[in-house]
Amino acid sequence: MELVSGMMDGSLSYELKNRLQPVLSGFGVQGAANIELKEIPMFEGCSERQLRSIARIMRVFDAPAGTVIARVGEPGNDFYLILDGTVSVDLPVGKSVCLRPGEFFGEMSLLDGNPRSATVVTDTPVRLLVINRENFSVLRREVPDFTQILLVTLSRRVRHAEQHADRVGATSVTL
Ligand code: CMP
Repeated sequence: MELVSGMMDGSLSYELKNRLQPVLSGFGVQGAANIELKEIPMFEGCSERQLRSIARIMRVFDAPAGTVIARVGEPGNDFYLILDGTVSVDLPVGKSVCLRPGEFFGEMSLLDGNPRSATVVTDTPVRLLVINRENFSVLRREVPDFTQILLVTLSRRVRHAEQHADRVGATSVTL
Protein backbone atom coordinates (compact mmCIF):
# COMPACT_ATOMS: atom_id res chain seq x y z
CA MET A 1 0.00 0.00 0.00
CA GLU A 2 1.36 3.39 -1.00
CA LEU A 3 1.65 5.35 2.23
CA VAL A 4 0.61 8.80 1.10
CA SER A 5 -2.27 7.77 -1.16
CA GLY A 6 -3.54 5.32 1.44
CA MET A 7 -3.43 7.96 4.07
CA MET A 8 -5.24 10.52 1.97
CA ASP A 9 -8.11 8.17 1.05
CA GLY A 10 -8.40 6.91 4.62
CA SER A 11 -7.60 3.29 3.77
CA LEU A 12 -4.64 3.01 6.15
CA SER A 13 -4.89 2.00 9.77
CA TYR A 14 -4.57 4.67 12.47
CA GLU A 15 -1.22 3.23 13.54
CA LEU A 16 0.18 3.48 10.02
CA LYS A 17 -1.29 6.93 9.48
CA ASN A 18 0.59 8.10 12.53
CA ARG A 19 3.90 7.18 10.97
CA LEU A 20 3.74 9.58 8.01
CA GLN A 21 2.71 12.96 9.31
CA PRO A 22 1.22 15.48 6.89
CA VAL A 23 2.57 18.94 7.48
CA LEU A 24 0.52 20.82 4.92
CA SER A 25 -0.59 20.79 1.31
CA GLY A 26 -1.54 23.33 -1.31
CA PHE A 27 -1.35 27.11 -0.88
CA GLY A 28 0.52 28.16 2.25
CA VAL A 29 2.78 25.14 2.36
CA GLN A 30 5.91 27.18 1.83
CA GLY A 31 5.33 29.64 4.61
CA ALA A 32 3.74 27.35 7.17
CA ALA A 33 6.24 24.52 6.72
CA ASN A 34 9.09 27.00 6.39
CA ILE A 35 10.11 25.72 2.99
CA GLU A 36 12.02 27.91 0.57
CA LEU A 37 11.24 26.22 -2.74
CA LYS A 38 13.78 28.41 -4.52
CA GLU A 39 16.60 26.96 -2.41
CA ILE A 40 15.85 23.43 -3.60
CA PRO A 41 18.30 22.74 -6.46
CA MET A 42 15.61 21.21 -8.68
CA PHE A 43 13.56 24.43 -8.53
CA GLU A 44 16.44 26.91 -8.87
CA GLY A 45 15.52 27.88 -12.41
CA CYS A 46 11.81 28.40 -11.68
CA SER A 47 10.09 31.77 -12.00
CA GLU A 48 7.84 33.05 -9.19
CA ARG A 49 4.80 31.92 -11.19
CA GLN A 50 6.22 28.44 -11.61
CA LEU A 51 7.05 28.23 -7.90
CA ARG A 52 3.45 29.19 -7.09
CA SER A 53 2.19 26.38 -9.35
CA ILE A 54 4.45 23.89 -7.59
CA ALA A 55 3.37 25.11 -4.15
CA ARG A 56 -0.26 24.53 -5.18
CA ILE A 57 0.24 20.87 -6.07
CA MET A 58 2.75 19.76 -3.46
CA ARG A 59 2.19 18.15 -0.09
CA VAL A 60 4.75 17.94 2.67
CA PHE A 61 5.05 14.89 4.92
CA ASP A 62 7.20 14.10 7.92
CA ALA A 63 8.08 10.50 8.80
CA PRO A 64 10.19 8.99 11.57
CA ALA A 65 13.20 6.76 10.94
CA GLY A 66 12.29 3.24 9.85
CA THR A 67 9.18 4.16 7.85
CA VAL A 68 8.61 2.20 4.65
CA ILE A 69 7.63 4.82 2.09
CA ALA A 70 7.42 2.52 -0.95
CA ARG A 71 7.54 -1.25 -1.18
CA VAL A 72 8.92 -3.24 -4.11
CA GLY A 73 6.22 -4.84 -6.25
CA GLU A 74 3.41 -2.61 -5.01
CA PRO A 75 1.68 0.03 -7.13
CA GLY A 76 3.16 3.51 -6.89
CA ASN A 77 1.27 6.78 -7.23
CA ASP A 78 3.54 9.40 -5.69
CA PHE A 79 6.82 11.15 -6.48
CA TYR A 80 9.00 12.12 -3.50
CA LEU A 81 11.65 14.81 -3.17
CA ILE A 82 13.72 14.63 0.02
CA LEU A 83 13.76 17.96 1.90
CA ASP A 84 15.40 16.69 5.07
CA GLY A 85 16.90 13.40 6.25
CA THR A 86 17.99 10.34 4.31
CA VAL A 87 16.35 7.21 2.92
CA SER A 88 17.67 3.83 1.85
CA VAL A 89 16.60 2.37 -1.47
CA ASP A 90 16.78 -1.41 -1.04
CA LEU A 91 17.20 -2.85 -4.50
CA PRO A 92 15.97 -6.37 -5.34
CA VAL A 93 19.57 -7.33 -6.18
CA GLY A 94 20.41 -7.04 -2.50
CA LYS A 95 22.17 -3.70 -2.74
CA SER A 96 21.15 -0.56 -0.87
CA VAL A 97 21.52 3.05 -2.06
CA CYS A 98 21.33 6.09 0.23
CA LEU A 99 19.44 9.17 -1.03
CA ARG A 100 19.93 12.61 0.54
CA PRO A 101 18.16 16.00 0.60
CA GLY A 102 17.62 17.32 -2.92
CA GLU A 103 17.42 13.79 -4.33
CA PHE A 104 14.16 12.15 -5.36
CA PHE A 105 12.55 8.74 -5.74
CA GLY A 106 9.31 7.19 -6.95
CA GLU A 107 9.65 8.57 -10.47
CA MET A 108 9.92 5.15 -12.14
CA SER A 109 6.40 3.92 -11.35
CA LEU A 110 4.94 7.25 -12.42
CA LEU A 111 6.82 7.15 -15.71
CA ASP A 112 6.20 3.54 -16.77
CA GLY A 113 3.11 2.60 -14.73
CA ASN A 114 4.80 -0.51 -13.34
CA PRO A 115 5.00 -1.45 -9.64
CA ARG A 116 7.71 -0.03 -7.41
CA SER A 117 11.16 -1.28 -8.44
CA ALA A 118 12.63 -1.10 -4.93
CA THR A 119 11.69 -0.66 -1.29
CA VAL A 120 12.39 2.78 0.16
CA VAL A 121 12.82 3.12 3.94
CA THR A 122 13.68 6.22 5.96
CA ASP A 123 17.09 6.04 7.70
CA THR A 124 16.44 9.15 9.80
CA PRO A 125 13.40 11.32 10.47
CA VAL A 126 12.57 12.79 7.06
CA ARG A 127 10.62 15.61 5.52
CA LEU A 128 9.35 14.83 2.04
CA LEU A 129 7.79 16.94 -0.66
CA VAL A 130 5.21 14.71 -2.34
CA ILE A 131 3.56 15.08 -5.75
CA ASN A 132 0.84 12.64 -6.80
CA ARG A 133 0.43 11.00 -10.20
CA GLU A 134 -2.22 13.49 -11.37
CA ASN A 135 0.09 16.42 -10.67
CA PHE A 136 3.32 14.87 -11.93
CA SER A 137 2.65 16.36 -15.37
CA VAL A 138 2.41 19.83 -13.76
CA LEU A 139 5.91 19.32 -12.39
CA ARG A 140 7.12 18.25 -15.81
CA ARG A 141 5.54 21.34 -17.36
CA GLU A 142 6.58 23.90 -14.75
CA VAL A 143 10.12 22.87 -13.77
CA PRO A 144 12.66 23.87 -16.42
CA ASP A 145 14.90 20.93 -17.32
CA PHE A 146 12.80 18.48 -15.28
CA THR A 147 12.85 15.90 -18.07
CA GLN A 148 16.61 16.36 -18.39
CA ILE A 149 17.04 15.92 -14.61
CA LEU A 150 14.96 12.73 -14.74
CA LEU A 151 16.93 11.35 -17.67
CA VAL A 152 20.31 12.06 -16.07
CA THR A 153 19.20 10.49 -12.77
CA LEU A 154 17.75 7.43 -14.48
CA SER A 155 20.94 7.00 -16.52
CA ARG A 156 23.03 7.09 -13.33
CA ARG A 157 20.73 4.58 -11.66
CA VAL A 158 20.95 2.20 -14.62
CA ARG A 159 24.73 2.57 -14.68
CA HIS A 160 24.99 1.78 -10.96
CA ALA A 161 22.66 -1.19 -11.30
CA GLU A 162 24.70 -2.53 -14.24
CA GLN A 163 27.97 -2.12 -12.37
CA HIS A 164 26.50 -4.01 -9.44
CA ALA A 165 25.14 -6.73 -11.74
CA ASP A 166 28.64 -7.08 -13.21
CA ARG A 167 30.11 -7.54 -9.78
CA VAL A 168 27.61 -10.22 -8.74
CA GLY A 169 28.09 -11.98 -12.08
CA ALA A 170 24.54 -11.67 -13.44
CA THR A 171 24.33 -12.97 -17.01
CA SER A 172 20.91 -11.86 -18.27
CA VAL A 173 18.60 -8.90 -17.71
CA THR A 174 14.91 -8.65 -18.63
CA LEU A 175 13.60 -5.11 -19.33
P1 CMP B 1 9.91 3.49 -8.17
O1 CMP B 1 10.21 2.23 -8.91
O2 CMP B 1 8.66 4.21 -8.51
O3 CMP B 1 9.95 3.20 -6.60
C1 CMP B 1 11.18 2.81 -6.02
C2 CMP B 1 12.18 3.88 -6.34
O4 CMP B 1 13.51 3.63 -5.94
C3 CMP B 1 12.33 4.05 -7.85
O5 CMP B 1 11.13 4.50 -8.38
C4 CMP B 1 13.50 4.99 -7.92
O6 CMP B 1 13.11 6.30 -7.61
C5 CMP B 1 14.34 4.44 -6.78
N1 CMP B 1 15.41 3.60 -7.33
C6 CMP B 1 15.29 2.47 -8.04
N2 CMP B 1 16.50 2.01 -8.40
C7 CMP B 1 17.39 2.87 -7.90
C8 CMP B 1 18.85 2.95 -7.91
N3 CMP B 1 19.59 2.03 -8.54
N4 CMP B 1 19.43 3.99 -7.30
C9 CMP B 1 18.69 4.93 -6.66
N5 CMP B 1 17.33 4.89 -6.60
C10 CMP B 1 16.70 3.90 -7.21
